[in-house]
Amino acid sequence: MPPVRLKDGQFAHIRRAAASDAVGLVALMNRCYQERLYYHTSTYDTTPEQLASLIERDLHVVADVDGALAGWAEISPGRAEFMRHTGNLGMGIDRSYRDAGLGRHLLLAVLDLAREASLERVTLYANASNARALALYEKVGFVQEGRLRREIKDSERYDDVVIMGLLF
Ligand SMILES: CC(C)(COP(=O)(O)OP(=O)(O)OC[C@H]1O[C@@H](n2cnc3c(N)ncnc32)[C@H](O)[C@@H]1OP(=O)(O)O)[C@@H](O)C(=O)NCCC(=O)NCCS
Repeated sequence: MPPVRLKDGQFAHIRRAAASDAVGLVALMNRCYQERLYYHTSTYDTTPEQLASLIERDLHVVADVDGALAGWAEISPGRAEFMRHTGNLGMGIDRSYRDAGLGRHLLLAVLDLAREASLERVTLYANASNARALALYEKVGFVQEGRLRREIKDSERYDDVVIMGLLF
């Protein structure tokens, strides 16, 4: 895929992740999780070895900017017999590369892979306070399907979780 130009003029290379990305990806995921605002835990509890297997099995795309991993998007297809047409989405962008359009590029790239894999539905869970993520997901066609009230509690801060879905 040719490089894409971001809103700030930088170029990003979006590509399918390789098992060799696992170490860098675990570090990137941990940086995002440690912000405590966007995910369900403050650490990404998967080893690079486990992530390397997931990369081989699932649909993972990453973005390189200036030779560094700047973001990822992944869709894990359903394993249950009656859910193999579905996938669960997760993604994140390194703090210093946000709001430049990279999330949209990664999201569209991983959704293309999901279509190629004949998935028919993608589900995601986002914290209700995460206005930027909700806006991005709606812009590419996701629809809010439900809300888990006070599903998140970090110290005394509560958040709802919004369930979103996209049908192909
Ligand atoms: C959420 C995230 C993946 C989005 O990626 P990004 O590269 O920052 O986002 P983009 O620049 O591609 O798109 C964001 C869009 O939301 C809009 N937006 C930003 N903040 C917004 C807000 N507070 N309210 C409404 N819209 C907002 C932007 O204008 C942009 O739309 P546009 O391209 O039409 O102008 C990224 O910011 C991120 O990783 N955040 C922290 C971790 C996280 O939230 N992960 C997702 C967990 S569900």
